Amino acid sequence: MTDEIVVIEGDGIGREVVPAAVEVLSAFEFDFEFVTAEAGDATRDATGDALPDATYERVADADATLFGAAGETAADVILPLRKAVDSFVNVRPATAYPGVDALRPETDVVFLRENTEGVYSGHEDRLSDDLSTLTRVVTSSASRELAEYACEFVEDGRGPAGDPDEGFTVAHKANVMRETDGRFREEVLAVADERGVDADEELMDAFATKLPLDPTQYGVVVCPNLAGDVLSDLAAGLVGGLGLLPSANVGHDNALFEPVHGTAPDIAGEGVANPTAAILSAAMLLEYLGHAGAADRVREAVETVLAEGPRTGDLGGEATTEEVTAAVVDRL
Ligand code: NAI
Ligand code: MG
Repeated sequence: MTDEIVVIEGDGIGREVVPAAVEVLSAFEFDFEFVTAEAGDATRDATGDALPDATYERVADADATLFGAAGETAADVILPLRKAVDSFVNVRPATAYPGVDALRPETDVVFLRENTEGVYSGHEDRLSDDLSTLTRVVTSSASRELAEYACEFVEDGRGPAGDPDEGFTVAHKANVMRETDGRFREEVLAVADERGVDADEELMDAFATKLPLDPTQYGVVVCPNLAGDVLSDLAAGLVGGLGLLPSANVGHDNALFEPVHGTAPDIAGEGVANPTAAILSAAMLLEYLGHAGAADRVREAVETVLAEGPRTGDLGGEATTEEVTAAVVDRL
């Protein structure tokens, strides 16, 4: 059966790294149909709308989407697109690869971040000249759904240790936010217990201290929305750069894959962006569509290239995006 993959390059280096990822996907013989769609600053300038309805609908109807980055319209594009794929979890691996100058070379963690609620659910009000408020939303259903995903993730050996016994850590602040994080914590731990998955917990502030001191203590980390955003960025800082980090927004029967980085205006248009994050996002897409073997081959090829070169400027090399991409395709 043909899988329809929507491809949105967006702005800046999105236009350089997404074609690299498509080149890698095209190196396999899978029955993919690539459908291009537009979104971002340039689309807004041309049409008045950063995310045209046609793009939203294509993404909602597709099997999967590969997205590059949008510039100042990023929030107007990516938040609705996460809704379009009905995404309840944001998967963000942070792995330090040999050959990359990382602050903590032993880091290998995957964040599973709640992707719909918490403080990002949009209920914010300016009530007076002095007072603004925000309503934090936590439901048992979303917490349990995330926990079910985390359990499956661990059971399938998709965590860094690749071992179903590795379990996961839930990071929260239930000692202060007793109702909201209290509910989140309780539901996540209950699901783990029901499924016989080993789960331990960590207060998120303590976690923020312990992770950089000793990342080997952690593997799969389950977090509420804001905590997942911040803590995964912290982990990104440990592994040596934005050009390396992929992510997946997974929904019920759809998903969107994107590098964590933005449009990198300082290097856009020069053909020197690191395509690794986008290529690793494509590997996550392959895995999502049931091609785990191909995904592994992509990751191995990327690891070899990171270790042996060629490397782009952000990693101390002088290679172009195309040279790195060709080297990865060569090693598939
Ligand atoms: P950025 O990720 O675009 O760039 C930060 C730094 O990392 C820059 O020095 C850049 O050159 C470097 N960098 C990022 N990706 C790289 C790659 N693949 N290869 C080599 N170097 C890379 O973040 P910044 O500067 O905060 O934002 C720039 C624009 O991107 C803003 O307009 C922002 O709104 C947008 N943005 C969009 C996102 C999205 O669409 N999901 C996410 C983050 C930012
Ligand atoms: Mg962020």
